[in-house]
Amino acid sequence: MIIGGSASQSLAAEVAKQLDEKLCTVEIKKFPDGEKYFRIKDEIPEDEKVVIIQSTGYPQDENMMELFFILDTLSDMNIEDITVVSPYLGYSRQERRFKEVECISAKATAKLIQSMGVKHLISINLHEESICDLYDIPVDNLSAMPSIAEYIRNNHDDKKPVILAPDKGAENFAKEIAEILDTDYDYLEKVRLSPEVVKTKTKSISVENRSVIIVDDIISTGGTIVNAIDILKKQGAKKVDVVCVHPVLVGDAILKISAAGASSVKATNTLISEVASISVGKTIADHLKTLQ
Ligand code: R5P
Repeated sequence: MIIGGSASQSLAAEVAKQLDEKLCTVEIKKFPDGEKYFRIKDEIPEDEKVVIIQSTGYPQDENMMELFFILDTLSDMNIEDITVVSPYLGYSRQERRFKEVECISAKATAKLIQSMGVKHLISINLHEESICDLYDIPVDNLSAMPSIAEYIRNNHDDKKPVILAPDKGAENFAKEIAEILDTDYDYLEKVRLSPEVVKTKTKSISVENRSVIIVDDIISTGGTIVNAIDILKKQGAKKVDVVCVHPVLVGDAILKISAAGASSVKATNTLISEVASISVGKTIADHLKTLQ
């Protein structure tokens, strides 16, 4: 049985269809003061394996609370075999302490999630792999890169674009996609030319007159991508497209990226977004099959 939270309804429906499993009917609404209400409308046998699909991105507190309501309702129904799929796991960006006595919010949410009877957690391209270590339950960190590569193969006019990471931290994403597409990849690195001058450039590949696809895990304000587009244009890139896993896209990020010269901005549907054209449904469904 699949239960879709309000932040991942279409994705839950797609996964249920791919697995040929029942999509549970639920009632989710808000009281006039903004508090949420949750009810399960179907009967679920106590020995049923239940998979909840609910991203916990913006509004994080609301989506996280809804997840807790679903979990507590299942606990009241004596259901024990519960897997949570949170394709975008909110509060993952503070997974360690940068200043004294800061709350490690990824740890706090981990404590809450696993205290509510979750047996297995699945997410997609977690901000840091080390987040898995904050849990005592198994955590599977899936990659959206095969779905992104497939999308590029089917939709991009250039069959051999350069897949480019905007920094070293995203290099593995670019590498994974490039290997699937059998094309080049690189990342942007800062080089200090003198004590005063720092230049950011591609590490080893020339992008002059080439189609480039920038890939990152998250686009939030868009600042990282705008900077990358500026550099690629100066280096003579013919065309720049942008793709990411999690379209957080705060405020006018899409406008900023488009104004900087991106030909397109696409993302996966780990979060609801107008640019979420790439589905991670198959990745999740295929992984769930291996756990059955
Ligand atoms: C950084 O660790 C991430 O991979 C992204 O590069 C970053 O979150 C993007 O943020 P923004 O869009 O605000 O530059």
